[in-house]
Amino acid sequence: MNIAVGSDHAGYEMKKHVLAWLERHGHKAEDMGPYSDESVDYPDYARKVAGAVAEGRFDQGILMCGTGIGVSIAANKVNGVRAALACSPEFAALARQHNNANVLCFSARFNDTSTAEKILESWFGSEFEGGRHQRRIDKIEPCC
Ligand code: RB5
Repeated sequence: MNIAVGSDHAGYEMKKHVLAWLERHGHKAEDMGPYSDESVDYPDYARKVAGAVAEGRFDQGILMCGTGIGVSIAANKVNGVRAALACSPEFAALARQHNNANVLCFSARFNDTSTAEKILESWFGSEFEGGRHQRRIDKIEPCC
């Protein structure tokens, strides 16, 4: 798969592990920054990755920040993006199976690299189940 990857400064080191994991598992990944651990604003990178997925330039996106919360809130503002904050491998699987999430977000500060790898294995090892879940996804649209 073609994957866009981004973070903020808190996710910078974890992003390197994610990029290496993706390469080892045969995915094509683009590092959308940041390119150092200097302090940055997570919405800038979340927007970049989510926008690229929404435009169809990538199959999926992966975002990390300290908690994963900021990037998931920001990514979900982009139309067509279903960003899921995965707090465990089980969350990652369900985000694919039930929510057809197209952007995986997770915490770089509250996961070690071995848990992060399990989250990635679970995400890429799971497929959308369709059916009643598609009906529910169809009901998610901007309002108010
Ligand atoms: C940066 O310190 C931190 O606020 C950010 O990485 C993230 O956790 C925000 O949600």
